[in-house]
Amino acid sequence: MNNFRFCVGTDILFGKNQLKNLPKAMQVYGKKVLLVFGGGSIKQSGLYDKLLFELKDFEIHELSGVEPNPRVETVRKGVEVCREKGIEVLLAVGGGSTIDCAKAIAAATFYEGDAWDMVLNAADGSIGKTLPVCTVLTLAATGSEMDSAAVVSNLETREKLTIINSGLLPKCSVLDPENTFSVPEAQTAAGSVDIMSHVMEVYFGSEKTFLTDRICEALLKTVIQFAPIALEEPRDFEARANLMWASSLAINGLCNAGKAHDWSCHYIEHELSAYYDITHGVGLAIVTPQWMRYVLNENTVDKFATFAVNVWNVDEKLDKFEQANEGIKCLESFFKKLAIPMTLSEVNIGETHFEAMAKHAVKHTGLNKYSYVLLNEKDIVAILKMCL
Ligand code: NZQ
Ligand code: ZN
Repeated sequence: MNNFRFCVGTDILFGKNQLKNLPKAMQVYGKKVLLVFGGGSIKQSGLYDKLLFELKDFEIHELSGVEPNPRVETVRKGVEVCREKGIEVLLAVGGGSTIDCAKAIAAATFYEGDAWDMVLNAADGSIGKTLPVCTVLTLAATGSEMDSAAVVSNLETREKLTIINSGLLPKCSVLDPENTFSVPEAQTAAGSVDIMSHVMEVYFGSEKTFLTDRICEALLKTVIQFAPIALEEPRDFEARANLMWASSLAINGLCNAGKAHDWSCHYIEHELSAYYDITHGVGLAIVTPQWMRYVLNENTVDKFATFAVNVWNVDEKLDKFEQANEGIKCLESFFKKLAIPMTLSEVNIGETHFEAMAKHAVKHTGLNKYSYVLLNEKDIVAILKMCL
């Protein structure tokens, strides 16, 4: 097990009616709030009205219309409001896109250049002071409610990049599973894939991390058990609650305690989203099984066999490679059961930009630093071709 630092300071308010406790948790950061939300689901579900009622003692300004795969233009709009109105705290109400947009605004408000330059230079320390961010999560998926990352897209330059900074960790997040009852089937499925992917991106590694690995397997089994129930019965509280908590735990550092991170599938998927604006979880479902097949070899087979046996109950008596391949098949079948498109052709993506995407993925990411199996541009093109 490698050395690690684990410090997650998000105050999680989990369960029914926790919105009532938000004012007390948020007021320590200020009274001037920028309420950030997406395309309207919070108005349809009634959450918006409940929020305004609970926050009647706050001065609320609004930024609506945050897109799935949030765009830098929206971040710029939010920065203007924060500066003009002297906003003291951001409240993001929605899924990962809304939360990420709020996080990027929180950092860009104090950045002296353009928001996109801040994103491009984040690894070199462009992020300094940040505004505090609180969240009310409405979709179990990204874990942004309890991590220090934000992903922002620039459709003009075809880039989708991640910024990571401890200042972006939400101060407080309301996780009421009932707020996810209205999530449509396709987003429930894609979100479930995303949760599993966050676990798998760090599960596959060569360090000896017995406890961390068992935690990972428990999270994977939780999603395998409850995603189909949430699809069948969207108002099943236990299913939504388990998915919601799994979303936060999958990426808050717990699953990679003591190990390196891979994130190859995410880096490849972010290229698909940057070029084609596809749903993050759908891209991951398409890429992950093919990445697994591509990196399966003598050195990696043991971990894939453990995954097969411990997560999918594959027969231990099979040969190691048979176990590993069976595990990958089980994962693929599970994603199919969630009715997710499983090839790039199904989402109308051809090979036109594969080389540019591969080049970009290697240039802009940590692919070559922490990967379980080091991928170069040729490898990424090969994996993308397997996804067609
Ligand atoms: O915009 P609204 O109207 O709210 O509708 C959203 C959106 O259309 C809808 N939705 C959300 N909650 C709902 C709901 N509809 C009905 N009822 C509800 N309760 O769902 C749609 C998708 O929302 P979005 O926020 O885009 O989904 P998700 O949470 O999957 O976020 C995806 C974004 O997060 C990034 C992804 O790359 C993508 O940009 N990620 C962020 C990460 C992080 N910050 O750590 C890590 C992830 O790996 C990921 O990259
Ligand atoms: Zn993800």
